[in-house]
Parts: sequence; structure tokens; C-alpha cells
Amino acid sequence: MTGLINYIFKLLFLLYAGSAVSITPVVLWHGMGDSCCNPLSLGTIKTIIDRTFPGIYVKSLKIGSTIIEDMENGFFLNVNHQVDLVCNQLAADPELKDGYNAIGFSQGGQFLRAVAQRCPSPRMLNLISIGGQHQGVYGLPDCSYIKHPLCNYIRKLLNYGAYVGWVQNTLVQAEYWHDPLDEEKYRSSSIFLADINNERNVNQTYVQNLLKLNNLVLVMFNNDTIVQPKETEWFGFFEPGQDKKLYRMQDSVLYREDRIGLRKLDQQGRLKLLAVDGNHLQFSEEWFVNEILHKFCGS
Ligand SMILES: *[C@@H]1O[C@H](CO)[C@@H](O)[C@H](O)[C@H]1NC(C)=O
Ligand SMILES: *[C@@H]1O[C@H](CO)[C@@H](O)[C@H](O)[C@H]1NC(C)=O
Repeated sequence: MTGLINYIFKLLFLLYAGSAVSITPVVLWHGMGDSCCNPLSLGTIKTIIDRTFPGIYVKSLKIGSTIIEDMENGFFLNVNHQVDLVCNQLAADPELKDGYNAIGFSQGGQFLRAVAQRCPSPRMLNLISIGGQHQGVYGLPDCSYIKHPLCNYIRKLLNYGAYVGWVQNTLVQAEYWHDPLDEEKYRSSSIFLADINNERNVNQTYVQNLLKLNNLVLVMFNNDTIVQPKETEWFGFFEPGQDKKLYRMQDSVLYREDRIGLRKLDQQGRLKLLAVDGNHLQFSEEWFVNEILHKFCGS
């Protein structure tokens, strides 16, 4: 009898342990002015994920060796270099060897897309972009929202010239600055966004790698006053030559020519467009748990 009970306990334990370790790990990339571990932002997100899937492995990316450095690098470390650093971090982490789901917040959304396109190993299963700027931005950051002294300095630099060589190479936000009044300059000078969006030429490796995702999930905030235009969160943008009229993703060259694989993902039902009422990154825990974690991170 005790033998049987022991056996049942052992079985239950194995089942429990088995289910705990089989939850796919999650990798998070924070937004501008934020860090890996801020208790008010990604710290809370990590806690929610831990609570939803006990035992899950969550890696909140830290770019640099300290939290201060991590935050500063979000402004001043060349994004291409950041992506390289992250690719190395992910490849070196044995917990991720069987794949992971990725959630990017704000600029972390487009940075993780670069990781998906450039670094297929370990495999990213689902990419969830929460308020990411996939066609870039055309509008100075709102420093009443990003309450950091560096923010005003960044406004000055972008105003001075986002495509000026040294600004482009040192200022992260210049690297996804998309000027609809000068598309040619954007295409030729943007060292990050124009590259991952295959604007200069079509890098087939990027297409093949993006198509390896199970799902690309793009969340847009309906009342976003921080990101200009908010439609960039769904690959929409200003029509060339002006900054009022917008095109939708489906009407973009990127989609019509399928330059990065978006149209194929869409046709196969693997492109998910979600809209949330609220300003930038304003979402409820309930929404995050039900619409993101349970739908895309729960296996
Ligand atoms: C395409 O992207 C891959 C992955 O980043 C890179 O190694 C390769 O050099 C790129 N090819 C071209 C033609 O830019
Ligand atoms: C947010 O945007 C949605 C969709 O455009 C709109 O229906 C809603 O009224 C807006 N909410 C606020 C508070 O402005």
C-alpha cells in the first residue's frame, strides 16, 4: 500500500516537474528610458509571468553590465551592436537552447525583430511586439512621458539631424528615424531600420528567418500619443512626401512586395494584429495574461 502511494506521489511529482520545465522560456526587451529590472515596469511584467506560469524561465535583457548602463545604452549604444550583444547572450544561455518566446516593449519590439531576422539560433517561436515602431518614427520623443534628463538632449540631436553620420551611429532613436519628407535619405542613411526592413536590397536571410516564427504579434495602442505615428506599431506609416496621410501595412511597399515576409505570414494566419485602448504601453494585467501570455506563451 505505501509502495503504491509512494509510486503515485513520484508519478505526480514527475508530471508536475515535467510540466514546469516544458513551458517555453520568455525573453523580454525593455523600452527607451527603461531597464531590464525596473520594479515599476519589467520587474512587474516578470512577476506576472512567473505567477501565470510557475517555474518558467524569464530572461529580461540587460544591455551592459549595470542597470544604469542598460538604461543609457537604450539611448546611446548603436542598435546593431546591441542586437549582436543580445544574440550572443541568447546563444550562450543553455535554458534557451530549445527555443523561446520574445516580448518586446516599445523600441524593444523592433530590436527583437532584428534578433529574429539576424539570429535564427536559438529559435524564437513567437515574437510579440507591444507598441514597437516597425516603420520607425517621425516625431520627437515626448519628454514629459520619458522623464529623464537625457530625453531633452535626444530631442536636440534629432532636431539637429538624425541622418548626420555621427548622430546616426550613436543615437539609438536616430537609427529608427523615418523621415517621410526624405525617403531617399532615410533609405540610404538609416543604419538599422532601413536594413532590417530590406529597404536597400532584399536580404533573403532576413525573410527566411522571419518566416521561421510561429507568430508575429503586433500590438498597437489606439490612443498612443507618444509614438508618431502610432500606426507604425502595425507597420503603417506616413505616405511619402508629407506627414499627415497614412498608409496601412497592406498598402505598404514592404507588404506588397513582401520584402521581409510579412505578407506570407499574414496569408498563413501567423500575423496577429491586436489593438488596445489606451496610451503607449498602458495595458491591464488581465489583458496581458489573457491575450498575450495564455495565447502565445503558454506551451
Ligand atoms: C543578410 O543578413 C545576414 C544576417 O544578418 C548577414 O550575415 C548577411 O551579410 C546579409 N547579407 C547581405 C547581402 O547584406
Ligand atoms: C481610444 O481609441 C479608440 C479607437 O480609436 C476610441 O474608440 C476611444 O474612444 C479612444 N479612447 C480615448 C480615451 O480617447
